[in-house]
Amino acid sequence: KEYVVGIDIGGTFTKFGFVDRDGKIFEEGSSPSDKFDKIEDYLANLFKDIKEREKNLEAPCKVIGVGIGAPNGNFYRGTIENAPNLNWKGIIPLAEMVNKYYDVPVRLTNDANAAALGEKVYGGAQGIDNFIMITLGTGLGSGIIVNGDLVYGHDGFAGELGHTNVEVDGRQCGCGNKGCLETYVSAPGIKRTVFELLAHDSRGSNLVKYSFDEMDSELIYNEAKKDDPVALKAFEITGKILGRKLADSVAHTSPKAIFLFGGLAKSGDYILKPTKKYLEEFVMGPFKGKVDVKPSQLMDRNVAVLGSSSLIWKDVK
Ligand code: BGC
Ligand code: NA
Ligand code: ZN
Repeated sequence: KEYVVGIDIGGTFTKFGFVDRDGKIFEEGSSPSDKFDKIEDYLANLFKDIKEREKNLEAPCKVIGVGIGAPNGNFYRGTIENAPNLNWKGIIPLAEMVNKYYDVPVRLTNDANAAALGEKVYGGAQGIDNFIMITLGTGLGSGIIVNGDLVYGHDGFAGELGHTNVEVDGRQCGCGNKGCLETYVSAPGIKRTVFELLAHDSRGSNLVKYSFDEMDSELIYNEAKKDDPVALKAFEITGKILGRKLADSVAHTSPKAIFLFGGLAKSGDYILKPTKKYLEEFVMGPFKGKVDVKPSQLMDRNVAVLGSSSLIWKDVK
C-alpha cells in the first residue's frame, strides 16, 4: 500500500500521519517542535518518531512522498523563512533537508495553506472554488483559494493575513512589526485582550482569579459560557477585529465562504457571531449577505496533515 507522510509543523508540536489517497490517516503521531534549538536536531527526532510509526503499518508499505505545512513556509522554494513562532530563524531549506530521511518527492507549503487544501479535498470546502481558511492558534494563518487554486503570488508567500496591520503602533508582533492581526486574533491575542480589559474594569469577572500563565483561550470560552462580562467582551472585540479584516479580504478575492479552524475557532458562536456581524457591517455593499463564515468541518481531524499530504497526491495519477 502507498502512503504519503503528511506533516503539520506548529510552534509547540509537529503532527504527522501516514495518509492514503482517500484521505484516511493511518498511524498518526506528534513530536515536539519547541524543544530543539537546532533544526537538525529537531528533524532527527521527528523522523525517528515517524519511522517508529512506520513499523506499525501493514507490509508491504511504500512512502511515495512527504507533504509539509509550516509557518512561514514558502511553496516555491521549499523553505521556512523567519517564522515568528518557531525557534529556527533565517532561511531553512526544509524540503531538501527532509530528503536525508526519505528519498522521495517533498512538497512544502504554508501551514494554513495546507489546512485550506485539507478543507477543499476532504472537508466542508469540497466543490467550493473560492474560499478562505483562517487558522487560529498561536498565530493567525490563512490560506486563500481563488478560482480553485491556492494563491501563491509573485514570491510564494501570498496569504499571510496574520501579519497585516490592524492598529497603528499596536501590539508588538513576533515578526518584528507592530499591530499585526495575529497579535489580537489568536490564542495569545485574546488573552492579552482579557488582561487589558481586566486592568480597566474587572467587576463581576471570574477571570481575575487567573495569572497570565494560567489563562488560555479555553478558559476564556468556559467563562463566556457562564456570561462572564470580560470574557464576552473579549470575544466581541476579537471578532470585531477579525470581521473588519475579513471584509477587506472579501473585497480582494470574493470568497463564497470563510472557514475558521483551530483552538479559538472551537469557541463556536462566541467568535463566529461578532466576526460575521462586523464582516457584514464593514464589507462593501455588493458582498453583503453573500459570504458564509463557518467552522471547519475537520475541526477534530488534522486538517493540515491531510492537506499537506494532498500536495503529493494531487500530482499522482
Ligand atoms: C505565520 C504564518 C502561519 C501562522 C499560523 C503566523 O505567525 O507567520 O505563516 O500560517 O502563524 O501558524
Ligand atoms: Na497562507
Ligand atoms: Zn506580524
